[in-house]
Amino acid sequence: MAGARRETVGHCGKTLYPSASERGPVGSPTKPWTDRVTDQISNDVSLDQLKARGATAAKTGIKALFAADADRFRHFSFRHDDLLLDVSKCALAADDLAALHAFARLAGVLERRDAMFSGARINTTENRAVLHVALRAEPGDGFAVEGQAVGAEVEGVLAAMSRFAKGLRDGTIRGATGQRITDIVNIGIGGSDLGPVMACLALAPYHDGPRAHFVSNIDGAHMADTLRGLDPETTLFIVASKTFTTIETMTNAQTARAWVAGRLGEAAVGAHFAAVSTALDKVGAFGIGEDRTFGFWDWVGGRYSVWSAIGLPLMIAIGPERFREFLAGARDMDRHFKDAPADANLPLILGLVGWWHRVAQGHPSRAVIPYDQRLARLPAYLQQLDMESNGKHVGLDGRRVETPTGPVVWGEPGTNGQHAFFQLLHQGTDIVPVEFIVGANAHERGQDMRIHQDLLLANCLAQSEALMKGRTLEEARRQLLDAGRPADEAERIAPHREFSGDRPSITILHDKLTPFAFGRLVALYEHRVFVEAQLFGINAFDQWGVELGKELATGLLPVVRGEASAESRDSSTAGLVSAIAHLRT
Ligand code: F6P
Repeated sequence: MAGARRETVGHCGKTLYPSASERGPVGSPTKPWTDRVTDQISNDVSLDQLKARGATAAKTGIKALFAADADRFRHFSFRHDDLLLDVSKCALAADDLAALHAFARLAGVLERRDAMFSGARINTTENRAVLHVALRAEPGDGFAVEGQAVGAEVEGVLAAMSRFAKGLRDGTIRGATGQRITDIVNIGIGGSDLGPVMACLALAPYHDGPRAHFVSNIDGAHMADTLRGLDPETTLFIVASKTFTTIETMTNAQTARAWVAGRLGEAAVGAHFAAVSTALDKVGAFGIGEDRTFGFWDWVGGRYSVWSAIGLPLMIAIGPERFREFLAGARDMDRHFKDAPADANLPLILGLVGWWHRVAQGHPSRAVIPYDQRLARLPAYLQQLDMESNGKHVGLDGRRVETPTGPVVWGEPGTNGQHAFFQLLHQGTDIVPVEFIVGANAHERGQDMRIHQDLLLANCLAQSEALMKGRTLEEARRQLLDAGRPADEAERIAPHREFSGDRPSITILHDKLTPFAFGRLVALYEHRVFVEAQLFGINAFDQWGVELGKELATGLLPVVRGEASAESRDSSTAGLVSAIAHLRT
């Protein structure tokens, strides 16, 4: 489809998926208003037309769009049970959204979605199926890779994980000296770390198992700081690596192994290690027993693997039942993505608006700001999910893409971010679309906690309102005069207190961060990234861009060690090697 977007696309004639009106009400209710607009617009959408639309809508401004449509929130917010996606505070008119839907039809987004769910090898550069959705399916859902059902195997690993997690939680599985395991250390990086780290923090209120720690960085400080205060007799390490070759993970695993062997003896090692990998032969060679090895499959990408055995630390922390609720939340979003009509389909709409911001309106980054301290690691998780998936410049057709692709994704929890980088969001020279995520309810109860939650919500709403409304020069001047400032001072200061407004934001609201709601939220973002990849015309499921640095690091290791010369390197690298050599003690 990338090719289809190269020229101005004429009337397509063929609808790749039926409009909501053609489908009739399936699952979530359709919106007659959107149906009408969708029906009005033809399939004549080209990249240039969409860019022109993007520019016009930005020029019109969000405030003016609200002024023109008293029902804008209703028209631009979408619900799935308690989950609400509000894109009304984006510079996007009704027919723009309809045009985006038409563009998605041309790009075959939902056709590609169906191919993914069918187990087709849509990861074409690695010749793999992409079936993380099967990890959270019910056994009867019938997921298969080339006719080979995967449900029973998935369930088998889940059952084995559950037995192991249960044994650790109830003390029937103990360390070599008979002590209960009180601390789990997950050793992994990237997709073998970020998901469980994020999830263990997100679901802290449900944490009633051993403490969970995470070591990812090759920097020895990470391991040293984690081991300090831990007792080898009561600690279990999980070596998590899809490939079981990643240098950081293997080095950290060897250090942990030596720590256990040094204190408890070589024979104790087996009782203090478990592994998660697709490379079961390599796990065996490391010396971890089969009964403590949990597998997954090449059709699970690393950054999509938290639902697999990679989620073991989470399962140990919150228990198998809660872990199943987490999976059920993701399954709920999968079914919604698969079955909901396009104009009520949250991941599709979130992806369309993301593409709109990135390509049609040219914003190079987006900020994800959870107003939820427990989602503090969500932005880091989304950085891998989004940027490793969609940070590509070659399309599915092997040619250089003609539009920008994935944006820079960044963020921090609110309200902390307000006291750090929100200055730039409100008054900086770049426009950064912001995605606010907030739960209406907290886990914490009591009057004191109610005050916190009310303030959190008020701040979240205030920020999106401020980004949109801004403050005019005249309002700034008037405020200063009303505060008793002299006229000349008001005149001088007012420009600094003016906010342009018309800055876009999306709000994702849900009831409360339960395991179900959390799984649903993460799956929403997974599918959003998928949708955007189809619109960019790229393969979201490989990551060749991480290879070169790895190769060069391997070559530089003997140079850093002083075992090889830096002469053939560029002068900067050679100079830095020499400076390091002088500083090393
Ligand atoms: O370097 C990138 C990457 O390959 C990620 O895609 C992956 O999540 C991470 O490294 C860890 O890989 P593994 O699980 O094989 O150790």
